[in-house]
Amino acid sequence: MKIVTVVGARPQFIKAAVVSRWLRQTPDCKEILVHTGQHYDENMSDVFFQELEIPTPAYHLGVGSGGHGAQTGRMLEAIEEVLRETKPDKMLIYGDTNSTLAGALAAAKLHVPVAHVEAGLRSFNRKMPEEINRVVSDHLSTWLFAPTEAAVTNLQNEGITGAKVALVGDVMYDAAIYYGTRTRADTLGKLGLQSKHYVLATIHRAENTDAQTRLRDVFGGLNAIADELPVVLPLHPRTRAALTRDNLLERCNPNLRLLDPLGYLDMVMLEKHASVIATDSGGVQKEAFFHRVPCVTLRDETEWVELVELGWNRLVPPTDAGAIHAGVLQSLRDTKQRPAPAHLYGGGQAAIQ
Ligand code: UD1
Ligand code: UDP
Repeated sequence: MKIVTVVGARPQFIKAAVVSRWLRQTPDCKEILVHTGQHYDENMSDVFFQELEIPTPAYHLGVGSGGHGAQTGRMLEAIEEVLRETKPDKMLIYGDTNSTLAGALAAAKLHVPVAHVEAGLRSFNRKMPEEINRVVSDHLSTWLFAPTEAAVTNLQNEGITGAKVALVGDVMYDAAIYYGTRTRADTLGKLGLQSKHYVLATIHRAENTDAQTRLRDVFGGLNAIADELPVVLPLHPRTRAALTRDNLLERCNPNLRLLDPLGYLDMVMLEKHASVIATDSGGVQKEAFFHRVPCVTLRDETEWVELVELGWNRLVPPTDAGAIHAGVLQSLRDTKQRPAPAHLYGGGQAAIQ
């Protein structure tokens, strides 16, 4: 069986790493890895291929950045070429980026059946580009691998039911277990951080970086937290560009440590040892739970609703710096026991299923 896998953005490298390892061990299975080039900086792409031992992509499309239409269109055209050349039996896509959408569309038009890993997630906010990408990709897919029960229910509500939907757990949990033992011992030392004495933050969503007011509120909140304890923030290039645009970079609290994007192994160490994680990332919200660290999500809604219900995640819409400051401090001080069901995200074997 020949499978074309399309990846392009940071979280997809991490998800594909665990599934790809299984595919390589499966007899009669040949995976053709396609990198769209959506993420291209060394620390947004190459570092993951090296650290996570992902094979070099057979095709690198070099699409790069751009508006949604231009970026997705360039990917679509190039993926179609790859499909015509390789004639695969299946297409494998991950998550909800423009690379996901382009992979799904190109395959569906050429009648190549699509398998979607991380199917069924919904924010119910169509202003998010990711929501459009998910809905379209799910409706074009032949096999939908859902990470949670909530995702299965979302698909049911859209009429996608039966054998094509499988509740398999979350491949990011597989990654957390497999690579969790390969982390670096010196990550905290290098940064002068003490375990459980800092907040880890990540910000990159379009809705938090494109609008000046939101960006100002988010960084106002993080600067205020940094008055009380160190905040460490590996900066997505989109966020660095937005801070520069709004002259906010030089106004950051010195106790708010802005870093370049990190490799996965350093990132996991920072997650494990944080007191609290404040983020707008989908993946980081779950990783906080995998490492049993409370999380504050700086968004209006989340797809990972089960973590909010269990008390591990607190939603704080980033429209007010004071509310962000208060939300993170409440999470820091909240010592109540939170339930942690063992198989919330599967058993660490989602990739095999
Ligand atoms: C994309 C996904 C988002 C995902 C995120 C993971 C879409 C619509 N969004 O958002 O769902 O959560 O990846 O990180 O697909 N840039 C660089 N170097 C890079 C990559 C990006 O400088 O290697 C800068 C460029 O200025 C670019 C901007 O970041 O315009 C945004 O990149 P893009 O891939 O369009 O979206 P992300 O915000 O990364
Ligand atoms: N991540 C990383 N280095 C960083 C920031 C994030 O390795 O500097 C990892 C993080 O641990 C998680 C994934 O990237 O596994 C999440 O990606 P991101 O937040 O970019 O996208 P999202 O999950 O929101 O789509």
